[in-house]
Amino acid sequence: MQPDHIILATHNQGKLVELQSMMCAAGLGHITLKNAADYNLSAPEETADSFEGNALIKARFVAEQTGRAALADDSGLCVDALNGDPGVYSADWAGPAKDFDQAFHMIKERLEKNNVETDGATAHFVCVLAYIDEAGNTHIFKGTSDGALHFPPRGQNGFGYDPIFVPHGELRSFGEMSMEEKETYSARGRAFAAFASYLKTL
Ligand code: IMP
Repeated sequence: MQPDHIILATHNQGKLVELQSMMCAAGLGHITLKNAADYNLSAPEETADSFEGNALIKARFVAEQTGRAALADDSGLCVDALNGDPGVYSADWAGPAKDFDQAFHMIKERLEKNNVETDGATAHFVCVLAYIDEAGNTHIFKGTSDGALHFPPRGQNGFGYDPIFVPHGELRSFGEMSMEEKETYSARGRAFAAFASYLKTL
């Protein structure tokens, strides 16, 4: 049976709005999403070294505290020539000030140090959704988006690493695309599509 409510393990209202609109577009608008902040929950420390591990920490925490179905996401950019870095540390590389120019610089510098051509270095975004259902069962959904890095950063749209990432089959960076265009390639969109297909089987 589909849940009436799902608690999103985020304090970010933007993520909730984005996910609710994806739920509506997928014909799942009757399921209400709530924010962890509505339950006065703190955010647990993300101590795992994988996207799956961190998404599970967040989802389990919310499911245990509320006794309801919970959904968490974890995502980041993996650069092949940097052994998948920044990966689960994607947010950390931008520092507390969320300075992504600093993160772009770190990536470029490390590629140069490894004698790797910075333009065209292959990379992928990963997004993992962890869902704990009302019975406490765990479900994992993963989406990826393959592409290459390009410097200098281009475009004002999107967020995070979007200005340096060009998905395969495109000439523009995510930062130069509309939200709808990015959605067709995005790791988050693909993970969500897998989650929505699962909910529809219930
Ligand atoms: P979190 O999953 O919200 O913790 O995000 C991890 C980090 O990866 C953040 O710093 C984001 O900026 C970055 N990130 C995740 N997904 C994307 C994306 O689609 N575009 C650009 N940056 C992303």
